[in-house]
Amino acid sequence: MDHSDRPLDLVLLGATGFVGRQCAAHLARHAPPGLRWAVAGRDRARLEAARAAAGAPSAELRVVDTADTAAVEALVAEARVVLTTVGPYAKYGDAVLGACARQGTDYVDITGETPWVRRMIDQHHEAAVASGARIVPFCGFDSVPSDLGVWMLVEWVRTHWGEPVREVRAAFSAKGGFNGGTLDSALTLRERGDLRMLADPFLLNPADRRPGPAPARSKDPRGPLTDPALGPLAPFFMAPVNTRVVRRSHAIFAARGQDYGPDFVYQEYMRPPGGAVGAYAVVAGMGAFFALSGKPWGRALLRRFAPKPGEGPSEAQMDAGGFKVDLVAEAQGGRTVRGKVAAAGDPGNRVTTKIVCEAALCLLYDRAALPAAAGILTPATTFAAPLLARLEAQGFTFVVKAPEGGAASA
Ligand SMILES: NC(=O)c1ccc[n+]([C@@H]2O[C@H](COP(=O)([O-])OP(=O)(O)OC[C@H]3O[C@@H](n4cnc5c(N)ncnc54)[C@H](OP(=O)(O)O)[C@@H]3O)[C@@H](O)[C@H]2O)c1
Repeated sequence: MDHSDRPLDLVLLGATGFVGRQCAAHLARHAPPGLRWAVAGRDRARLEAARAAAGAPSAELRVVDTADTAAVEALVAEARVVLTTVGPYAKYGDAVLGACARQGTDYVDITGETPWVRRMIDQHHEAAVASGARIVPFCGFDSVPSDLGVWMLVEWVRTHWGEPVREVRAAFSAKGGFNGGTLDSALTLRERGDLRMLADPFLLNPADRRPGPAPARSKDPRGPLTDPALGPLAPFFMAPVNTRVVRRSHAIFAARGQDYGPDFVYQEYMRPPGGAVGAYAVVAGMGAFFALSGKPWGRALLRRFAPKPGEGPSEAQMDAGGFKVDLVAEAQGGRTVRGKVAAAGDPGNRVTTKIVCEAALCLLYDRAALPAAAGILTPATTFAAPLLARLEAQGFTFVVKAPEGGAASA
């Protein structure tokens, strides 16, 4: 629903946090003049400082602690769209998402916490459908490059070859820093003991589409491998998030009669530095983190020595980062086509900030071009082409490499 009679177009909740501060600066610089927006958080003095640092004098202030559910409901009632970077979401996110679902307020976040989103789907999807709210988690580095990259290739195959897609595989290369907030969210996941949920390849699928197609080929890879099209690969630590989001997109599109393909499978990997040898180092590193974060003393050690919530990489580190995803899609008839998604800047910060802010602006300014939809959605099933175009305007690359050798933009 449009709700243009509400006093605010957009609320940025979490504006004092590491990513939230960058979002405030992005919106101050790139939002159209006339945007009626507010920065929100739990501490007025720090909010004032964040607003000043972002150069956003036109933004109003709202002081809200997410533990105060009445205050959260009142905030959500004021806005057309809520963008929240308050995390860990499993600790602080329920009231905000639930209020948006009930009140028909559109919502974007940057969570990567799949068990929390599963719980939110179970509790609030029907209310969001009834209220008309578009609730869109995963609007950061996880999982927009994966979700829009797959959608772009499936669309290309459908348009150019008139065929469904049997499989998409993706290889990520990424360079960037680590936020204290991200570590806190990862450790909170381990503390909550949601491992069985994390391991479910179809965790986010609607109940009537579980398991999804080809369960045996959808299991998470455990060791290094060599892909005929993508070369030496290792398991990617974000794949258990991104693959679940892509599979939910496929299931939602299928319910709309637009499925990717009857046997559609998506897998993603990391392109290890150092090729096949590096792949073993990646597996060992992931195993060490997994083992350490599984023990209370290991988590205490990580919390003590790693960045704290509110902290993150330096400006220079964030500017020097970047990511690239190489994708290969196999059509039902056996032909293959390749694609690429890439952007400069630290994935967890520069890239994530651009994606979530442009997603929020997309909900406000591109409504007429978005598919009619409500409920707990995914980036591809909510935004597709309009967000892809916005991200290209922000310097992202989305390219389909036509098999003849010519490159065609999506
Ligand atoms: N998808 C991605 O690629 C991606 C990338 C980066 C981060 N993330 C996720 O995004 C989240 C934020 O990351 P970050 O690095 O910005 O973390 P952060 O710096 O720790 O920021 C967390 C924010 O939440 C606020 N907050 C915490 N408890 C609150 C409460 N009870 N009421 C109101 N506000 C509260 C904090 O307010 P105070 O300032 O008052 O403490 C702060 O503004 C994390 O969950 C992280 O995992 C995802």
